[in-house]
Amino acid sequence: MTLPRTPLLAAATAVAALATLSATAVQAQAQGPLKVGLMLPYTGTYAALGNAIENGFKQYVAEQGGKLGGREIAYFKVDDESDPSKATDNVNKLIKRDNVDVIVGTVHSGVALAMARAVKESKTMLIVPNAGADAITGPLCAPNIIRSSFSNWQPGYATGVIAAQKGYKKAMTITWNYAAGAETVKGFTEAFEKGGGKVVKDLNLPFPNVEFQALLTEIAAQKPDVVFAFFAGGGAVKFVKDYDAAGLKKSIPLMGSGFLTDGTLEAQGAAAQGLITSLHYADGIDTPRNKAFRTTYAVTYKSQPDVYAVQGYDAAQILGAGLKAVKGDFAKRDAMVAAIGKMTVDSPRGKYGLSAAHNPVQDFYVREVKGPENMMTGIAVKVLPDPARGCKM
Ligand code: BEZ
Repeated sequence: MTLPRTPLLAAATAVAALATLSATAVQAQAQGPLKVGLMLPYTGTYAALGNAIENGFKQYVAEQGGKLGGREIAYFKVDDESDPSKATDNVNKLIKRDNVDVIVGTVHSGVALAMARAVKESKTMLIVPNAGADAITGPLCAPNIIRSSFSNWQPGYATGVIAAQKGYKKAMTITWNYAAGAETVKGFTEAFEKGGGKVVKDLNLPFPNVEFQALLTEIAAQKPDVVFAFFAGGGAVKFVKDYDAAGLKKSIPLMGSGFLTDGTLEAQGAAAQGLITSLHYADGIDTPRNKAFRTTYAVTYKSQPDVYAVQGYDAAQILGAGLKAVKGDFAKRDAMVAAIGKMTVDSPRGKYGLSAAHNPVQDFYVREVKGPENMMTGIAVKVLPDPARGCKM
């Protein structure tokens, strides 16, 4: 017969159970869930990128048993629509209305710049899982701002190195007219011209326009040795298809930072085959870490992971390492940031550390589109730091 549980017995049982928990877990449990704000694009040309980042973040949390540093996670979500004009209002929904502890976001550099300015003031912790705006780890750098992705300069520079090594002398560039496009092109130009090439013309159009025809006609008329492009998401799909349909792919090699072909290959089809890009991730990285990550992602989300999923996964790893160092006590922010600054991120892309400005110091791969994958065919630049120009911390 089961005896009825008296309040005293129940209390005694609870005390015994608590005694078996580690001090860390008790402390973390007492603090309640950590409030994480996800500010990402869930609509528009970058919607798929935002979803992949969220998936990657949640995959890492699930792998830790649903907790980071012993803390449960409560999510608060805002769709930023990749719209810089709404960015300050959107980030304030998370900072002031929801009172989150940490913000994870975003994809678009223009939106991320507004977020960085807001958290510099509020001191909310911000982990940037994509947007490459150079200023975030430059003049806007701060102890509470950390990036798990790249600076725009980095993939541009790495692709410029490869283009120069291939012996191309005359390049044209094409991109959207906003921070990510301009800064990626700047990185490309720096490396390409250092390697003996010359950028003869920069073409651009407003974000997120996809009316490429007039610009493609100009490329056909100028006949450079190579074209360098920065586009991503839905815009990248349209650009790669239009470039091929205009008959240019056969005559003028198209290169790009790897966003041109990442997460887009199914939609780009034959138009993307053979394109060479550089990025800090490639599908075929032959390590147990990457293989396990890819398998779990494919099983969980019924789709293949891409660079954005990796960056989201790493954002959670970085937050987890910081929280673990302070036993889940988010109030110990200085100790958390110090631990993050010293950590090695064991990423599917390969291991990396963070610079003093909190940007990944990482390898950039040469990738070639083969079938449904961006296959790794070499290393463009090993351990490439962001110059962090203007960062004073
Ligand atoms: C950016 O705006 O920083 C960005 C967007 C998509 C891919 C890469 C960078």
